[in-house]
Amino acid sequence: MRNLTLLAHTPSPNLQRLATAILDAAGEADIHVSQLAPLQAGPEAALNADAIIVLTPENLGYMSGALKDWFDRCYYACLDHTQGTPIAAVVRAGHDGTGTCRALETMATGLRWRWVQAPLVLKGNWQEGFVTQASELGQAMGLALEQGII
Ligand SMILES: Cc1cc2nc3c(=O)[nH]c(=O)nc-3n(C[C@H](O)[C@H](O)[C@H](O)COP(=O)(O)O)c2cc1C
Repeated sequence: MRNLTLLAHTPSPNLQRLATAILDAAGEADIHVSQLAPLQAGPEAALNADAIIVLTPENLGYMSGALKDWFDRCYYACLDHTQGTPIAAVVRAGHDGTGTCRALETMATGLRWRWVQAPLVLKGNWQEGFVTQASELGQAMGLALEQGII
């Protein structure tokens, strides 16, 4: 069974809701889904994944320090073994998200991962519709992985 890994830094209740929505929707497909906190994860999070979704808040114009730390620790261990891995990202931003998207694109380019879609930026005041958007992304990734589209 193919593996979809959600690397999610979820310091707030809203981010936890987004993670749950992504995971639940992806899990409707006939695949194995798992959620890992970046600070608790090592390179195996990517080495064992057939596709990756990252979820992060934007803090000070960048992805969370926890997610950046995971990339820093895992880059060389992954580089030669994870090229082509499909990736999608969800960014929760108070008002912007641009810097985080740029940084994630740099990171994915460095690792030679493959974007399934542009990062989903959920910005501004919290809206319940964000949960639906996150869920749709998770569902699309799960189905695409199940059906061998990605
Ligand atoms: C230290 C700190 C820095 C932040 N910097 C940014 C930022 O640069 N750009 C932005 O859009 N939001 C920024 N935010 C807002 C966070 O993205 C937001 O609090 C986070 O996504 C959680 O949203 P929530 O309250 O809906 O859970 C920052 C928040 C904190 C605590």
